[in-house]
Amino acid sequence: MRYIEANGLRVSRIGIGTWQFGSREWGYGEAYATDVAPALIRRALELGITMIDTAEFYGPAKSERIIGNTLTDPTLALPAHERAAITVATKFMPIAPAEQVLAWQCAGSRCRLQTDALDLYYAHWPNPLVSARRVMQSVRPLLAQGLVKRVAVSNYSLDDWQRAERALRAPVVANQVRFSLIAPAPAQELVPWAAAHDRLVVAYSPLGQGLLSEGRNPFGDAQTKGMRRYMRPDGAEARRLTAVRAVLGDIARANSASWTQVALAWVLGHPNTVAIPGARTIEQLEANAAAADLVLAEDEMARLTQAAAAD
Ligand SMILES: NC(=O)c1ccc[n+]([C@@H]2O[C@H](COP(=O)([O-])OP(=O)(O)OC[C@H]3O[C@@H](n4cnc5c(N)ncnc54)[C@H](OP(=O)(O)O)[C@@H]3O)[C@@H](O)[C@H]2O)c1
Repeated sequence: MRYIEANGLRVSRIGIGTWQFGSREWGYGEAYATDVAPALIRRALELGITMIDTAEFYGPAKSERIIGNTLTDPTLALPAHERAAITVATKFMPIAPAEQVLAWQCAGSRCRLQTDALDLYYAHWPNPLVSARRVMQSVRPLLAQGLVKRVAVSNYSLDDWQRAERALRAPVVANQVRFSLIAPAPAQELVPWAAAHDRLVVAYSPLGQGLLSEGRNPFGDAQTKGMRRYMRPDGAEARRLTAVRAVLGDIARANSASWTQVALAWVLGHPNTVAIPGARTIEQLEANAAAADLVLAEDEMARLTQAAAAD
């Protein structure tokens, strides 16, 4: 596993995304939530993963509960210093411009995660009715009271990220955005800014929700269950996917790696990035963790970047 430190936050470059935990929309079923999800967290820790990504909205609330229960399970016996090295990142929806509402949301997440202070607290999406400045004004008391250790944003433009930081009067250490070979835009502006200012870009859906795996037929997979059945790529995204899939095989073979590992290595080939793929199985998680150690050659990065630029 490789690690990165930005603004005092040290995390593994591959984390684990947990939207899938307890979420009906993924179609993974009850046994996934009760058995597979806790096993994924335990295995992730064994593999050196120290970034666990969740949100109050996932499940809703079930993902946070599963993580809280797993990390405090006496059979795991996680020593305090090991827990301190793990970043459990969660997110709030900035639904109202009111400090009391956010304090209540934060208390809910702390309770479900069974922790006194949230390691990393993201504003999940910009709210067009509540400015970035107003959102961060509501976060400030949580930081001051020590209920939140670090603050981040998600799905923010660079302007809004900077605006949020000015309003917080403290570093907004990360911006979590959709970033992959089929969604390469963050490489243009967000990544260079993060690299220049000791911040992180956290890549969500780094596998295009599975579209970048060799086994999937991205344009019509009868096996696909849940919401992804209705999420067929089209337009520029479909063209990017076709172009990228045409080169993934070659590069994967040359590196004795899988397509998904190459897709993750491409994200990590950018400075100050972390990728947080979700996983349906332990085998997927293990393959994803191993991708942290795959470093693509310059010409391989360039070939993939060119394919991802298809418009
Ligand atoms: N901030 C936000 O707004 C936001 C939005 C979306 C997601 N997120 C976060 O980012 C995390 C990751 O994004 P995501 O789950 O949407 O998409 P993703 O990580 O791109 O895709 C995850 C899916 O890809 C497949 N997969 C995973 N590892 C694989 C492997 N090694 N080989 C083949 N297939 C593999 C699995 O689906 P199948 O095997 O079923 O195909 C898995 O459920 C989420 O869990 C969540 O924590 C944040």
